[in-house]
Amino acid sequence: MKFSKLIKKPKSYFKVKPNLEDYNKTYKNFNYKKHYKEIEWIKKNKLNAAYNAITKHTLTEKKNKVALYWEGPNGEKKEFSFLEMDLLSNKFANLLKKYKVKKRDRIFLFLPRVPELYIAFIGILKTGAIAGTLFSAFQSKALEDRLKDSGAKIVVTTKELKKRIYQVKRNLPELKHIIVVDDKKRSKQEIDYQKEMETISQEFKIEETGPEDLAFMLYTSGTTGKPKGVIHSHLACLHEHMTSKYVLDIRDNDVYWCTADPGWVTGIAYEILGSWSVGASSLVYAGRFSPEKWYSLIQKYQVTVWYTAPTAVRMLMRYGDKLVKKYNLKSLRHLCSVGEPLNPESVKWSIKVFKRPFHDNYWQTETGGIVIANYPLMPIKPGSMGKPVPGIKAAIINDNGKELPANKQGTLAIKPGWPSMMCDIWKNKKKYNSYFKKGWYITGDKAFKDKDGYFWFIGRDDDVIKTSGERVGPFEVESALVEHPAIIEAGVIGKPDKLRGEIIKAFITLKPGYRPSAALEKNIQKFVKKRLAGHAYPREVEFRKNLPKTRSGKIMRRILKSQELGQKVGDTSTLEKF
Ligand code: WT7
Repeated sequence: MKFSKLIKKPKSYFKVKPNLEDYNKTYKNFNYKKHYKEIEWIKKNKLNAAYNAITKHTLTEKKNKVALYWEGPNGEKKEFSFLEMDLLSNKFANLLKKYKVKKRDRIFLFLPRVPELYIAFIGILKTGAIAGTLFSAFQSKALEDRLKDSGAKIVVTTKELKKRIYQVKRNLPELKHIIVVDDKKRSKQEIDYQKEMETISQEFKIEETGPEDLAFMLYTSGTTGKPKGVIHSHLACLHEHMTSKYVLDIRDNDVYWCTADPGWVTGIAYEILGSWSVGASSLVYAGRFSPEKWYSLIQKYQVTVWYTAPTAVRMLMRYGDKLVKKYNLKSLRHLCSVGEPLNPESVKWSIKVFKRPFHDNYWQTETGGIVIANYPLMPIKPGSMGKPVPGIKAAIINDNGKELPANKQGTLAIKPGWPSMMCDIWKNKKKYNSYFKKGWYITGDKAFKDKDGYFWFIGRDDDVIKTSGERVGPFEVESALVEHPAIIEAGVIGKPDKLRGEIIKAFITLKPGYRPSAALEKNIQKFVKKRLAGHAYPREVEFRKNLPKTRSGKIMRRILKSQELGQKVGDTSTLEKF
């Protein structure tokens, strides 16, 4: 078992006092009830996460402060104050009302990171409807699965992206309208965002939702079946507020940059609900990754807090130290990363070039907010995810729900009941219930805790793949693969990769008459990309005569993985001969 030593943060790191001054003391005495007043309630027992993120600031001197610095792919720039965000989202809420949106209706955002995405998200929550987000990389099949299962009533999208919705619209009987943010109305179902927003009222009475009312949902992948709709309540914003404060260490005068897309829960919790709740000015960059561009954004906007993903850090590392030196990045105060293991080399590199370490933290779509983290004042053990967030009881347990002692590997579990814990899986109680065992919420990850209480990630306990931080379910990829005319069967695994953490690898058997070839491999990859998304296709394809299966015919991904890694295959007594 690898243990790395505590590293010292450079002196310059401690110039300002962090929000969380004493981890142990805060952790020990923490009680969520005592922090209810840190967020803004509309009135007793009435909480709306949009009111808390945006509207509350308009009642203070912050009202003209920049909430959103937006920079587009071609250098276009826009700025929105908290007041502007509030009024625009009021307009959007009125627009939804005009088209008969009610509490609990599902309204989905299928948008690139344009300002309208943020305005619409806040507007949806103000009406009491449920906001769903979709990566703009999603192709028709991925869209159909999600929009159909959720019974989405309205999708907000662009002229370019709407084509993919039309490809599957016949299978979406509950979809009533398509709001297009950059085009005029071209069919009966479409709504012209720009035109309607011009004239609609900017006064809106925010729905007085209760803390348990549903606010937003995201589809996420598991090991079996299609992606599931994970739902969060308005109260999630309490945990997102507290962790924005304690973990991301955001304060009033920060310019904060989270590089995540709101198609991912990070972009909702820490680009909208938590980070705005603590009053940060947020930078959103809608363009593609480029190290030069990223550094120049930090320099130009004087970013102080930066939240990104380990794959991005590794990519930056690849471009080397010389490039970093070309920019003045002295504004940076605190760096965090999430989504996949942050390797020790990245932490050390960031100390070298940015004069401060990246602070790894851990959470999931289902946890709705950070649950394990490294904190500004706590020494870092590079490679460790850190310690549980105040208010979170995390443990390593065995299959009987028993807590394991230090240094023993087991399942990472959390005591249910924190405010941002998912409150349901859309129309799938059985799946929801399956997350809870023996009084614990089961993360599906394997980890251990060392004697100092630091948690170390080992790997998934299931077949879920993490590629560049994106969570991909093998079943979704396998289902797309077997639709290909040449394929009989497919088994999909995550294969370790230095840059991306894992890549998707597919094992395939072909129908008679088809032969393995490089051209066929390319064709298969394109086929999956066209259905799912750019990140969800197999970068490696291996053709096999047959695949390892149980006697009941289930493809054993575990065996494929062991073979791929050159490990012992383990017990195969229940297997069909392969
Ligand atoms: C899975 C969750 C992470 C933001 C929410 C989206 C993996 C997450 C870490 C980390 C190692 C990590 C786990 C987890 N993961 N953070 N710091 N170190 N692994 O997350 O898409 O729902 O995925 O991401 O496997 O279960 P998500």
